[in-house]
Amino acid sequence: MERLDKFLCDCGAGSRSQVKGILKSGRVTLDGKPIKDGSVKLDPDKNEVCLDGERIEKEGTLVLMLNKPMGYVTATEDATEPTVMELLPAGWRSRVKPIGRLDKQTEGLLLFTDDGDLLHRLISPKKEVPKLYYAKHEGTAGEDDVKAFREGVTLKDGTVCLPAKLEPLGEGESLVTVCEGKYHQVRRMLASRGMPVTYLERRAEGSLVLGDLPRGQVRKLSQTEINLLEK
Ligand code: URA
Repeated sequence: MERLDKFLCDCGAGSRSQVKGILKSGRVTLDGKPIKDGSVKLDPDKNEVCLDGERIEKEGTLVLMLNKPMGYVTATEDATEPTVMELLPAGWRSRVKPIGRLDKQTEGLLLFTDDGDLLHRLISPKKEVPKLYYAKHEGTAGEDDVKAFREGVTLKDGTVCLPAKLEPLGEGESLVTVCEGKYHQVRRMLASRGMPVTYLERRAEGSLVLGDLPRGQVRKLSQTEINLLEK
């Protein structure tokens, strides 16, 4: 929660004394009600502040969550394939870049941001943000596969992966949590154990979950949700 007068200053409405005058003249509403008292508290993620009838917001970091459908490549441009950028509203498209990537055939949680520092922090292997995937695959994962994932799977080309979590869900279905982002990583990890993937969906990054955002839809994250990414 923060004070209305401080929020107005942070949004660039004016200096502290100008904001006092703006409030006094009744030009500010909070959730539709005119407010003259700058000490009133608000939650910028929940309450709507308008100045002269126009909503104002802080120019903070923009982070978008997309529920990616299959068939789109994660690239800002591509000569032949549809890109994930085409799924973003035009006003946001020119501002943001994807955080990491999902394969053309993979669905689910894909994030975008206009904050270069955040982007680099989140894709850095040092940061090891866990990513949770739901996979349908041939065969059924067993205890030996769980152990192999826990110890670090060796891919068919000899690459050794960091320890990962495999949770069998029954016949031909598993959850996989990895902390790195090698090319086709989850597909190659399951294939190396004789379980080629037939469907893959990313469901969470850090403590941030995809939830019920419909496939193909995009939404802006709140500051509270952005904080969850680095937890
Ligand atoms: N692992 C994969 O194999 N594909 C993805 O898109 C993401 C992780």
